[in-house]
Amino acid sequence: MLNRIYHLGYAVEDIEAASIFYEENFGAVLGEPEVVEEQGIVATMFRVGESNIELVQPTRPDSPVGKFLAKRGEGFHHVAFEVDDLSGTLAELERNGVELIDEEPRRGAGGTRVAFVHPRGAFGVLTELVELPHA
Ligand code: CO
Repeated sequence: MLNRIYHLGYAVEDIEAASIFYEENFGAVLGEPEVVEEQGIVATMFRVGESNIELVQPTRPDSPVGKFLAKRGEGFHHVAFEVDDLSGTLAELERNGVELIDEEPRRGAGGTRVAFVHPRGAFGVLTELVELPHA
């Protein structure tokens, strides 16, 4: 059901500064930052093996990531697993009584479809499920 860890999401105050940090110190190659207005974020990723690190900066303080930063500060925010069939996965999780933030897929960065599982239902870890765009 879970193909791989697609990315680890880090909440940052300044995506530009964080990008430069990973470029200069780790040779990371960052994508163009993309605004996802529905989620109130701007995000970019860099590849690490078959996974990625996603840097996420809020575009407004009342967005979920904005509230996270105000409460917890910068740092690890969520794990994202790649799945083949997001709608089917969500239906199965719902049948199993798993607490979801998103019962329906929504638009993610890079043409993906994403949905979040509530950390209460996942041992304290905010868990994102990602279906990549089909070629
Ligand atoms: Co993510």
